[in-house]
Amino acid sequence: MPPAARQPPPEPGPRAAHRPIVKGTRLAYLFGALIGVVNNGAAHPGGGRTLAASARARASGETELFFKRWLNRPKGMGSVVPSSRMLARAIASAAACREGEVVVELGAGTGAITRGLMERLPPDSLVMVELDPSLVSFLRQRFPEARVLQGDASQLASLLAAEGIERVRTVVSGLPMVNMPLEFQRAVLDQSFAVLPEDGFVLQYSYSPIAPIPVARLGLEAELVRYVLRNIPPATVWRFTRPTHR
Ligand SMILES: C[S@@+](CC[C@H](N)C(=O)[O-])C[C@H]1O[C@@H](n2cnc3c(N)ncnc32)[C@H](O)[C@@H]1O
Repeated sequence: MPPAARQPPPEPGPRAAHRPIVKGTRLAYLFGALIGVVNNGAAHPGGGRTLAASARARASGETELFFKRWLNRPKGMGSVVPSSRMLARAIASAAACREGEVVVELGAGTGAITRGLMERLPPDSLVMVELDPSLVSFLRQRFPEARVLQGDASQLASLLAAEGIERVRTVVSGLPMVNMPLEFQRAVLDQSFAVLPEDGFVLQYSYSPIAPIPVARLGLEAELVRYVLRNIPPATVWRFTRPTHR
């Protein structure tokens, strides 16, 4: 057999043309990772983040995955990094759930808020809804005992019905509502209140000092229930109710 012909080195093609963008992306990536470490560390018990904890967070790939998904869908992600542990705890403390009831988390991302909810709720009471399939896979690996539904939060009632769930106690939303059109906001809130009890409410966190949705136009009332400085950016937690449910 003749000796195999030697392959010529690859031509510098379109890849070379993208190099400056890749460099810029790396810089942005490092920036995001840094904020992520600060955000996750900000609420570490004892006030500071240990090196071991930082290493664990990096190893888990949570911040990196989140940032990559943000690069892919900035509007749909709404944030560069996962929420802090302190924000997760603030939301968990504002959520209502009794034995045998269900709490739904919309837009679970990499599970930063889920982690806080899990500290207070039995794992089988939590149902997560996430649109992004790669985040869904991450969540299923991270929380094998919880239910993770892949789908659009604006179709909540049918997603839950497919799981045999008709009523839920609290809806927690991490959806970037300020980026979304009014019709999406209306669909999410209508679907949520359709499965909530009379005195049920939706908890929504935001980075705005004002309510992230036009509550009056949506026929709702909003109450600012938590303000969390130890999150990048600082966050507010809102409770939405239907006036007739009070
Ligand atoms: C601001 S991130 C919040 C992630 C996480 N809860 C946290 O606080 O770190 C918003 C999340 O909502 C998800 N999302 C956006 N639109 C959605 C939709 N229509 N249905 C379900 N999830 C959606 C995004 O993929 C993203 O994971």
